[in-house]
This record gives sequence, structure tokens and C-alpha cells, in this order.
Amino acid sequence: MNFPSVDFPWFGNGTVIAAIAIIHVMISHGIAIGMTVLTVSAEYRAMKKKNNELNELAKKMAKWILIITTTMGAMTGVGIWFSTTVLQPDSIGSLLRIFFWAWVVEWIVFITEVVLLIIYYYTWDKCQTIAQRKKHINLGIALALFSWLTMAIITGVLAAKLTPGNWIETKSFWDAFMNPTYLPSLGFRMFLAVMLAITITSFFVRWRLKNKELQSEMLNVFAFWGAISLPGTIITGLWYLKSIPAETYDMIVWSTGMSDTMFQVINGVGLLLLIVFLFWITVKPKTLPWVLSLVVFATSLSFIGEFEMVRESIRKPYIIYDYMYANGLLAEKQDEINEEGYLVNAAWATYDTVDQYTTKAEAGRDIFIGQCLICHTENGWRSSRAMANRVDGWSEESIKTFIPTMHNVRKAMPPFMGTEEELEALAAYLAKITEQENEVAANE
Ligand code: HEC
Repeated sequence: MNFPSVDFPWFGNGTVIAAIAIIHVMISHGIAIGMTVLTVSAEYRAMKKKNNELNELAKKMAKWILIITTTMGAMTGVGIWFSTTVLQPDSIGSLLRIFFWAWVVEWIVFITEVVLLIIYYYTWDKCQTIAQRKKHINLGIALALFSWLTMAIITGVLAAKLTPGNWIETKSFWDAFMNPTYLPSLGFRMFLAVMLAITITSFFVRWRLKNKELQSEMLNVFAFWGAISLPGTIITGLWYLKSIPAETYDMIVWSTGMSDTMFQVINGVGLLLLIVFLFWITVKPKTLPWVLSLVVFATSLSFIGEFEMVRESIRKPYIIYDYMYANGLLAEKQDEINEEGYLVNAAWATYDTVDQYTTKAEAGRDIFIGQCLICHTENGWRSSRAMANRVDGWSEESIKTFIPTMHNVRKAMPPFMGTEEELEALAAYLAKITEQENEVAANE
């Protein structure tokens, strides 16, 4: 609580962060990176085969890349800044200190990407001769490289949150950046981006295109990239899994909220569908059933959602592994805060000690906001995270007994930090909100 706090009371702050991030990843990976690769590749094939219709279709794809990345992509990109900086300021503060110059470079690279994209699209029709077309394709390759580079930079930051590696001791930029999951996760995202682009674009090609010859030409391009990307995704995915800490591995299935069997069946069926789909577009591109194109489109979007949820969840209780807990408290400060108190160390709490507040519960509320709000709400849609629901029926005394042990009982939670009075205050607050909730329910 070194910053003011913003609360999405019913929805949950974590949900807001997740929703924005997932949409952003779908766009940045699937459209900005993956679809650019497919588009340039289609433009190349169109030149080789002197196929003007294919060339026009590729141009249309470039138009959509331009529209989507500069609208939804940019909005959700800034949205990530909103959600993480405003809802999770402590963690972004730390990450900025480590990755300051990476972020400076990131912005320059992104601007370059957008400028290249604008030039790429608007010079399309001006390049008519073979020599001009070749130059134009090179421009497209440069664009693909720059959009990949934005990912290559940001992945360093994201991967370091899960596996900060030697940085914990050395505090060196390169130790943080080239951390143990950096290369596997970059590889995985790269292939995944192309797979995602294939399924998204195939769906629209199948749905909107009347010309079966043209559909077949385009799906041929996709089949080529699919043959590289699907094995690529699987191999780098396994490598990625091998590189994450053992404790986090166990949390993968848990974080999806599925049972072991359900998790295996759902992901297995998803993979199978993708394989069938790739076979189909390789062997009989003209007869691709629209249902199949729709199903793999939905499957791949869901997979991105699942991947992001899992990636964010398995890090719990940390936001930066072994260093900072999800609520922004530093692991190494635990003894100090237990001794001195939490409120006195929280710049944005109303007062420094519990007895300065009018009631204990009021002090408890500030502690809840500081230590629990990032994962919990008072009530709301996500019943497993809504406090009024989770401690319903518990006495104030049993809440008080539970809190100091909560990180052992539920491994996703950081330990409570604070004095005995602060613990009592938090328990009083939680008891009060469940009581209020029950009164509301009784009156209805
Ligand atoms: C990093 C996220 C996170 C933070 C921070 C967090 N919790 Fe939790 N908490 C969870 C999750 C996830 C569950 C549900 C676990 C499950 O159902 O397996 C949970 C469950 C609970 C439960 C129900 C336990 C049970 O056995 O039924 C209580 C009570 C609770 N949290 C209290 C708190 C309090 C109080 C704080 C702040 C001091 C807090 N939590 C901070 C993630 C968090």
C-alpha cells in the first residue's frame, strides 16, 4: 500500500487485469505477429505465382492488421499499463527499476513497428514491378521482425516474474532478462502466435471468401506455416514446462479450476482438433468444413485464455517469484512488518496504528485493501474469491486463527503480515462484512 488503491468491488481487480491482458495477447500475438508472417508469406506466393487475387487478399489482411493493432491492440496495450500500474503498482515499480531501459527500447521498437505497418499497407499498390514487389516484401519482413522484437523484449520482463533466477542475488539486468524461462517462453509464444493467426484467419477465409480456388491458395500458405508451428509450439511448450519451478508445475491444473482428467481431456481434444484441421487444409483445402474452422478458431482463442490464466496463476503467491508477493509485499520484509506493524509501513493507509481508527473493523478494511484486495473481493461474481462467501459461517475467532496459517493451508496465498492488533482488526472486518452480507440476504 505504497500507492492509492483502486477497487473493482464486484468484478475483482485480478479479473480486470486478466481480461485486458488476454485480449491484448490475442491481438499482439495472433494479429500483430502471427498474421504479419502469414500476410508477407501470402504476398510472396502471390508474386511467385503471379496471382493477383491472392495479392489482393494479402493486402486485405494487412489492412486488418493495421486497423486492429492500432485500435484494439493499442487500447489494450495501454490498458495493461492501466491495470498493472494502477491495480498492481508495487510490482510495476520493481519491474521498472530492473527493466527501465528495456521499456525505453520497447516503446521505440513499437513505434517503428507501427510506422512500418503504415508504410507497408499504404505502399502496397504503388509497387507493381517485380523489383518493387520484392522491396515491398522485404519491408514486410522488416515489419514482422519488429513486431517479433516487441515480444522478444516484453517476454524478458514477463518471464522474469516467474523465474527471476540469479537476479535475486545479483540484481543484474541481464540475469533478470536472460532468466531460465526466457528462451523457452519466447519460442513458445512465437510459434503459438503463428498457430493462432492461422486459426483466426482461416475462419474468416472460410466464412467470407466465395472463391474456392483462392481459399485453397491461401490455406496452402497456412498449411506450410502450420506444419512448422504446431510441432514448434509443442516442443517449446514442453521445454517451457521443464524450466518452471517444481512447485509451480503442480499449480497448473489447479489454476484452471478443472479436475486432472478434465484438463487432460479438454487440452487433448483441442490438440487433436488442431491436427485434424491442419491435415484438412493441407490435403483438401477447398472442402474445409466451416464448423471445423469455427471450432479451431474458438479452441485457439480459449487456449490463449487458458495459457495466460495459468501463467499468471502458477506464480502465486508471488508476483515476482521468491521476491515480491502478489499483494506487493516483499518476502524479505516479513519479520520487520510483523514487528513494526503493517499500517505504519503502508504509506496510503489512513492511520499508522489500529487504535487511531474509530473502529477495529475500519483499520481491518485498510489492511484488507493492502494485503488481500488483489485477489479477493468483498462479494461478487467469483464466489471462490469473495470474502463474504469464503468466511461465511466462520466466527471472528476462527477467522483470527485461520489468517496466520493461511499461506500453509492455501498455497496460493502469501502470509499475512502485521502485528497481533492488526490481525484482530482484519478478523473484525471480515466478520463484519459477512454479517452485513447475511443481513442483506435476510432482508431480500
Ligand atoms: C495471491 C492471491 C491471494 C491473496 C493476496 C490472498 N488470498 Fe485468500 N485466497 C486466495 C485463493 C486463490 C483462495 C482460494 C483457494 C482455494 O479455493 O483453493 C483463497 C482463499 C481464502 C480463504 C478461504 C480459505 C478456506 O479454507 O476456505 C480465506 C479466508 C482467505 N483467502 C483470506 C485471505 C485474506 C484475509 C487475505 C489477506 C490478508 C488473503 N486471503 C489474501 C488467494 C489470495
